[in-house]
Amino acid sequence: MKVIHTVKDLQAELQACKDKKMTIGLVPTMGALHAGHISLVNRSVAENMVTVVSVFVNPTQFNDKNDLLTYPRTLKEDCKLLEDNGVSYVFSPSEKEMYPEPDTRVFTYAPLDTVMEGKFRPGHFNGVCQIVSKLFSFVSPDKAYFGEKDFQQLAIVRKMASELFPNLTIVGCPIMREKDGMALSSRNARLTPQQRTEALTISKTLFASVEYSRSHSVSETYQFVVDGIAANSALKLEYFELVDGNTLQGFTNWEDTNYAVGCITVFVGEVRLIDNITYKKN
Ligand code: PAF
Repeated sequence: MKVIHTVKDLQAELQACKDKKMTIGLVPTMGALHAGHISLVNRSVAENMVTVVSVFVNPTQFNDKNDLLTYPRTLKEDCKLLEDNGVSYVFSPSEKEMYPEPDTRVFTYAPLDTVMEGKFRPGHFNGVCQIVSKLFSFVSPDKAYFGEKDFQQLAIVRKMASELFPNLTIVGCPIMREKDGMALSSRNARLTPQQRTEALTISKTLFASVEYSRSHSVSETYQFVVDGIAANSALKLEYFELVDGNTLQGFTNWEDTNYAVGCITVFVGEVRLIDNITYKKN
């Protein structure tokens, strides 16, 4: 495995692979890798001859300076994990390398990017599209892998790729959970043991709501989740929305959609956690 820091070196290595007609998989990450990332890596390694993992904490997607400053950075451990999992290249550029000058491009994919995270994290998806489009251009992969935990991000990246990178296949990979149901996230590392216990209410409530939804309306199911989170005073709900998994728009009756997803964001102390659950997918 080679660790590369510049676009020039990356492109030289990848050109040699392309000359040999090797297929390339890209897994974009911000590091602090866990089993969720590794599931994407394993899929890429299984499906491509070469796997590139980018590790870059992208400043343009953070609307909260403190979140950017406290984001865990563990490159040495990440590289060890990636080498053990058969990755060919780690691309770990500096900020100057990715943004030699400010990126003024504006990406708008309304209404996908104006709801949920788009409402609460202004500019976030613009930053994601800036960095992901740069990575797609530099690596020019055959396939790129994203987790379904960031459900809205995946929908927006799919949309961007369909417009700007039509030959690229975006692969969505299922959420990885701890044995107790908690969704894996780099941010979990910031939870105290007590907060980690309280945070379990999130996935437990979502799972229970799937069962509940079988005999209740959309609005009752919505309320079930809101009440379930409110019952734990250690948690602060930012939003819960029941949306169509393709359009990310709300619906009134279960029959109105054939892909119903519940997306949630909850604060546990200072730590902002997101999760989602599928109610229906035909
Ligand atoms: O999901 C993430 O970790 C980031 O948003 C991504 C896709 C690596 C872009 O910085």
